[in-house]
Amino acid sequence: MKLRRLSAVAAGVVTVLALVPSAVAAAGGNGAPAVPKDSLRALGAKQGLRVGTAVDMAKLGTDAAYTDTVAAQFSVVTPENVMKWDAVSPSRGVNNWKPADQLVQFAGQHGQLVRGHTLMWHNQLPSWLTSGVSDGSISTTELRDILHQHITDEAAHFKGRIWQWDVVNEVFANSWDTPTSDGLNSTDFWVQHLGEGIIADAFRWAHQADPKALLMYNDYNIAGQDGTNTKFQAVYNFVKSLRAQGVPIDGIGEQGHLDTQYGFDAQRFQDDLQAYGDLGLKVAVTEADVRTFVNNATDQVPTSQLAQFAQPFEFSEMLKACELVRQCLSFTAWGVYDGDSWIPGTFSGEGYGLLYDVNLKPKPVYFALQQDLSLAAGPGHRNGPDSGDE
Ligand code: XIL
Repeated sequence: MKLRRLSAVAAGVVTVLALVPSAVAAAGGNGAPAVPKDSLRALGAKQGLRVGTAVDMAKLGTDAAYTDTVAAQFSVVTPENVMKWDAVSPSRGVNNWKPADQLVQFAGQHGQLVRGHTLMWHNQLPSWLTSGVSDGSISTTELRDILHQHITDEAAHFKGRIWQWDVVNEVFANSWDTPTSDGLNSTDFWVQHLGEGIIADAFRWAHQADPKALLMYNDYNIAGQDGTNTKFQAVYNFVKSLRAQGVPIDGIGEQGHLDTQYGFDAQRFQDDLQAYGDLGLKVAVTEADVRTFVNNATDQVPTSQLAQFAQPFEFSEMLKACELVRQCLSFTAWGVYDGDSWIPGTFSGEGYGLLYDVNLKPKPVYFALQQDLSLAAGPGHRNGPDSGDE
């Protein structure tokens, strides 16, 4: 059996380590790379913070350098796509859990937790579902039953193996959307077809299927980035009312997709995360990346010299805010390296958003985060004279 084989390998590693004093401790077993002491995950562990990445299952296990980086640097993983509805149910009544199962297994082998992403979202829905709704062959009543079944099936399939579930994703209105009176996006697929009450139901259904998972609402621009803070305020009020009604929602995920062209209010970001925390919620930064204009999608060299400083600065500000908010459990980047990021394909002319460059080399932002984590882990010891402050 796999687990037994793993512990045998791990035992072998311990023996070898005892004989080779310079070897790095804490090898993951089964050929997994060791966890370096100065890795993001090891430094985060010193303050109880999980540092994560979204994982592309087309690369994990097939691209060795990519796979080693995921294992060595991160202590929580989010499937970038393979838990989305179109991936797990390509045709009606058919489920495909395989790639997601592989990620969950990988995480288990490497001492990582898993963020489940996502159970109810308007994007990446299977076409059998969207076409059925638009041609009228799926009624509103049936749609509700289908969603209930989907949430139940998926949360039950991974029961006990998901740390945080992004139960509902991106249902609130941006400044360019038409809001409902509660600030939800009135044209969101789910809000439009099933009404606002579906959000509470989604959380209830997820809780029934996996009572121990932390159930999160996940969105972008809901901390710090919205000039008027309208979106934050709407989420805050709505979630406060869900809690008052006893709806099982445990936390808020702020995605953290920033763009250097818009500026960023780090103080507000931290205050907003803290405000959610003060409601009794956990918080997480779930999809951090900081994009900027680049020369081309292949090389991704920032076109502005200042962007080379803005990118690590804003990333670091997000991490520090999370570190300073006690309820912030995890800080996740939306991908490992610039060569495998959603940014160039989504935001024309932009890139350079992640911690590693197009060749999987750590960027200045990696070092900035490493410094932040080291500083938070505790003061250094200096041998100079006493400062007189103690
Ligand atoms: C993105 C993925 O990174 C892409 O590979 C995919 O083609 C589209 O979705 N907000 C979310 C994520 O919650 O699921 C999105 O991920 C990025 C925006």
